[in-house]
Amino acid sequence: MNSSITHFTQFDSKALGEQLIQDALYFKTNPRADITKGRGKRIGCIFLNPSLRTRVSTQIAAQNLGMEPIVLNMDKEGWALEMKEGAIMNQGTVEHIKDAAGVLGTYFDILAIRAFPTLTDKESDINDYVISQFMKYTGTPIVSLESAIRHPLQSLADQITIREHSQENKKPKVVLTWAPHIKAIPHAVANSFAEWTSGMEHDLTITHPEGYELDEKFTKGVKIEYNQSKALEDADFVYVKNWSSFQDYGKIHCTDTSWMLTEDHLKNAPNAKIMHCLPVRRNVELSDEMLDGPRSLVQKQAENRIYAAQSVINHLLDSNF
Ligand code: CP
Repeated sequence: MNSSITHFTQFDSKALGEQLIQDALYFKTNPRADITKGRGKRIGCIFLNPSLRTRVSTQIAAQNLGMEPIVLNMDKEGWALEMKEGAIMNQGTVEHIKDAAGVLGTYFDILAIRAFPTLTDKESDINDYVISQFMKYTGTPIVSLESAIRHPLQSLADQITIREHSQENKKPKVVLTWAPHIKAIPHAVANSFAEWTSGMEHDLTITHPEGYELDEKFTKGVKIEYNQSKALEDADFVYVKNWSSFQDYGKIHCTDTSWMLTEDHLKNAPNAKIMHCLPVRRNVELSDEMLDGPRSLVQKQAENRIYAAQSVINHLLDSNF
């Protein structure tokens, strides 16, 4: 296959998805097979928001390829960034994002960025403003470590996990179910999971309370079923995730605890495996019995974050940028 990209911020094609999954599975059996490929190159991992898995797995992945990762916790250690074009910077912000992005582009061979949505400025969020600014001003390949609307490295790790646990010659039935939460949560994981799962041509159903419809851009052709028990019937994989309202942007409309997934919800899905990107609010989104039981794939998803990142960085190193 000869699919190629110079940025990794979203699903590209089934062919590239397949190539990235195959490479990730190869690296999983032999993590340092290409230890010299990235020698002499640096990746900057820039976090505007907190992280555990993304932060650590991306560094391990880069090191497995011989690259030097440098992490900057921009939210805590960098200057306060101005995001507005044409802003008169006479208030609290110190550095404009276009200046910061330009400088970082001169320091690194690849830049990886985490920038969550505001959940208040819908226009800015749906245009993925922050990561777009980095793409515009750095001049280096960009990897999304979760943007306002997508979390592609998580989604690739999820597809790797589904591949590892699927029955041969059976199209898996995958259900993305909304779960309760106490805070307003971004749409990125759910959007990206829908984009990748339908892009890889799995049989995807999304279930959520009315009013929690995701941006249609990510759910074209996907079955939406408001009845959670009906949606879960005969599922092979159940992906549990909260998100806030998209229509009434960033608001919490439903706190119905009956949406929390328990063993009882899966009486008609005897073979279903449970997935969640973590971090998870135990006994709010998912019960302890599910997370600690034999159905759970959550630790395997987290482990696959390393090989998802390694596969993507390897691909960018191969792209002759
Ligand atoms: N799933 C995920 O992205 O985890 P972190 O937020 O801890 O990186």
